[in-house]
Amino acid sequence: MATSNDPDLPALLGGTPVCSSETSEWPICDEALQQRFSELIKSGDWGRYHGEYVTELEDRLRSLYQLTNMQLVSSGTVAMELALRGLRVAPGDHVLMSAYDFKANFVNVVQLEAIPILIDIDEADGQLDVEKIAAAATDNTKAIIVSHLHGGLVDLSRVRSIAEELEIAVIEDCCQLSSCACDGSTVVGSQADVSILSFGGSKLLTSGRGGAVLTNRDDIAQRIKTYCQRGNLAYPLSEMQAAVLGPQYDSLSQRHRQRQECVDAIRRGATKHQGLKPFSCRENAVADYYKLGFWYDSQQFEGMSREQFCEAMKAEGIPIDVGFPALHRIHSKRRFQCVEELPVADRAHEQIVVLHHPFLLGAAPAAQQFFLALDKLTRHARILSQP
Ligand SMILES: Cc1ncc(COP(=O)(O)O)c(C=O)c1O
Repeated sequence: MATSNDPDLPALLGGTPVCSSETSEWPICDEALQQRFSELIKSGDWGRYHGEYVTELEDRLRSLYQLTNMQLVSSGTVAMELALRGLRVAPGDHVLMSAYDFKANFVNVVQLEAIPILIDIDEADGQLDVEKIAAAATDNTKAIIVSHLHGGLVDLSRVRSIAEELEIAVIEDCCQLSSCACDGSTVVGSQADVSILSFGGSKLLTSGRGGAVLTNRDDIAQRIKTYCQRGNLAYPLSEMQAAVLGPQYDSLSQRHRQRQECVDAIRRGATKHQGLKPFSCRENAVADYYKLGFWYDSQQFEGMSREQFCEAMKAEGIPIDVGFPALHRIHSKRRFQCVEELPVADRAHEQIVVLHHPFLLGAAPAAQQFFLALDKLTRHARILSQP
């Protein structure tokens, strides 16, 4: 009988965790950030509405994304609302989107009394299935929302050419990416009619809350500006929030490399594991990893449910959770339409798990820990799958 000193025993059964939960602490307050916080205290800038840090962040984003218009806002959720308003999405308009997406995107469309038209996802990379866009469009279609999720990237060039033919606008949701993500030589977020970013508390770059709307189209930018202006700004990002983002942009490339190294090692190692298949990313494209998505197959783990699997991995110190619910599975049929069945999104609702980004900063050694934990769970799957 195994004892608690048995290195093979899963932590959930009394064994020692593979790694400590400290490996996944977030956010990281490194020296540069600590210095920025002290500067804020000394100068009193932490209490200001607007100042040099806001201007610096706006300039930085305009230059990174090579876009002329930039509005910093209070969240990615607000940024999506503003993007839809900037495109004049109105009651009765159709907005195409993936059936597997962030819930607030769906709610934003519904709040404008427009109708989300849900499209299935692609099995290999878990992203919106681009080849299904044209069939979902009607004369009422105004726009398509394209979200890059869990370490995958939608082929935006392809989306743009389809959207141009259909004469609809493209909104690109880059809330799960930083400016390190690129497609060929283009920074992801710079090709759509409007793009949105998030600086929420768990994001790759965080100010607790925050976001941005980016566009090259002056008409969209003007409408957004007007909507935000209520004699006072309705959804601003503060000077203090902008200040803490600067040093994080400075360390972004290095952290991106660490995450990429870990993901590459996980993708290589996962080829030996039938039950856990990481999302792929297209050739010549470099995603970023707010989360890394996987398809989880409980059959390969003696019927261990996805929730049991996540609980057992978390006990090992590996921060993994279930993915989003599919939108058609949690919303009333009155709220959306779809032109065909959504079998892959149905599977996503039951089978996607996501590994959170702070763990990926452990680079290749973290990937080794990941597989140590996975091997333990595989060997003890029968007992771990007991209700
Ligand atoms: C894909 C996607 N879109 C939008 C958002 C909304 O961002 P925020 O939390 O800043 O409102 C999130 C947040 O996790 C997201 O993952």
